[in-house]
Amino acid sequence: MSTATTPPLHLVTVPGDGVGPEVTAAALAVLRAALSSAGIRMEVSEHPIGGLALDQSGDPLPEPTLAACRRADAVLLGAVGGPRWDRRKPRPEAGLLRLRSGLGAFANVRPVRVMAGAEMHSPLRPEIVRGTDIVFVRELTGGAYFGKPRGVEGRPPDRRGVDTIEYSESEIRRVAEVAFTLARSRRHKLTSVDKANVLATSVLWREVLDELAEAHPDIELEHALVDSFSLRVLLDPRRFDVVVTENLMGDILTDEAAALVGTLGTLPSASGGGDGPWLYEPVHGSAPDIAGKGLANPLGAIASTAMLLRLSLGREDLAKAVEQAIGAVVQAGSLTPDMNGALSTQAVTEAVLAQLGELVPA
Ligand code: IPM
Ligand code: MG
Repeated sequence: MSTATTPPLHLVTVPGDGVGPEVTAAALAVLRAALSSAGIRMEVSEHPIGGLALDQSGDPLPEPTLAACRRADAVLLGAVGGPRWDRRKPRPEAGLLRLRSGLGAFANVRPVRVMAGAEMHSPLRPEIVRGTDIVFVRELTGGAYFGKPRGVEGRPPDRRGVDTIEYSESEIRRVAEVAFTLARSRRHKLTSVDKANVLATSVLWREVLDELAEAHPDIELEHALVDSFSLRVLLDPRRFDVVVTENLMGDILTDEAAALVGTLGTLPSASGGGDGPWLYEPVHGSAPDIAGKGLANPLGAIASTAMLLRLSLGREDLAKAVEQAIGAVVQAGSLTPDMNGALSTQAVTEAVLAQLGELVPA
C-alpha cells in the first residue's frame, strides 16, 4: 500500500456581502465533495472583506485578510458591496480591487459558454446563441480602475471629476500572453478589443498585440473596436473564441455577454497571473435584493470551483466532473428563480452534489 498522501488544499474564503456567503457555502460543499472523491483534504479559513470588513474594522480589506489570501493555495470570493455602504468612503469595492492587485491578479478569465439544452435561458434566439463558447481575458489591475490622478475636486457648481486610463507596455504584454496561451489550448483565434480610433492607451495596446502576434504565428489575431464588438458579440457570438481587453471595457463586455447565457448567475471567473494564488469568484454581484432569502443562484460560484480544480490543482478530471454536474442540473431544470426555476440555493446545490456523486463516487 502506498503511504504517499496528497497535501491538503489550503483554501481561504472571503464570502463578503449580500448573497456572497450563501453562494460561497454552496461552492465549498461542492469543492469538498470533488476533492474528497480524489482523496484530497481541504483546510479552509474564512476572512472578512468588503462591507462586512468595513463594519468590523473600518477597512474593506484588513491586513490579516490580505496576508491570509497571499499565503493560500487558492482564494474563493463571494461578492462585495451593497446599498448600505454606498455613501461610505472607502467603498466595499475598494477592498476587492486591493485584493486583486495585492495578489498580482492581472488576468481575469471569464468563460461565457451556452450549455447544450440551455439555449432557452437566453433572451436571444436559440439559433444565435447555440454553441457559444467564448473566453474573455480581462486586464484586471490597470487602466481606469487604478490610474492616477483620480478624484472629485472643487465645490458645487464647479466640481471636476478625473479618472486616468494608463497602461504600460509590460502590463499589456503580460495579459496578452495569457490570452495567446489560452487561445492555443482552444480554437486558435484571438480577438483584441480596444478603442484605438480614439484612445492613446488603445493605440499602444494594438501595437503591443501586433508585436506579440509575430511570436505566436499559430494564433489568428484580429482587432475589434469596442463599440462594434459589443454589437457583434450579440449578433454572431459563435465567431469569437478568446477575447482580450482592458479592465473597464472587460468589465462592461463580460456583463453584456452574460445576455448570451441569459443570467449572470451561472458565470464563473478566475483571476491571477502574478506571484500570488489565483482568486476565484462568480461574475455576479452581491444581489442585495435577494440576500439572505436562499434564492441566489449558486452555479456561478460552483463553476468557479471547477476553474479552481483546473487552474490551481491541475485536476482537469475533477473540473470536468463539476462542470458536467452543473450541465446536468441545468438540463434537468433544477434551477433558481433567476433562471425561471423554483428551487432554493440549497436545493440546487444538493442537485449538483447528487450529480457529482454519480460522476465521481467518493
Ligand atoms: C466585476 C465587478 C467589479 C469590477 C466591481 C464589484 C468592483 O463589477 O468583478 O466585474 O468592476 O471589477
Ligand atoms: Mg463587473
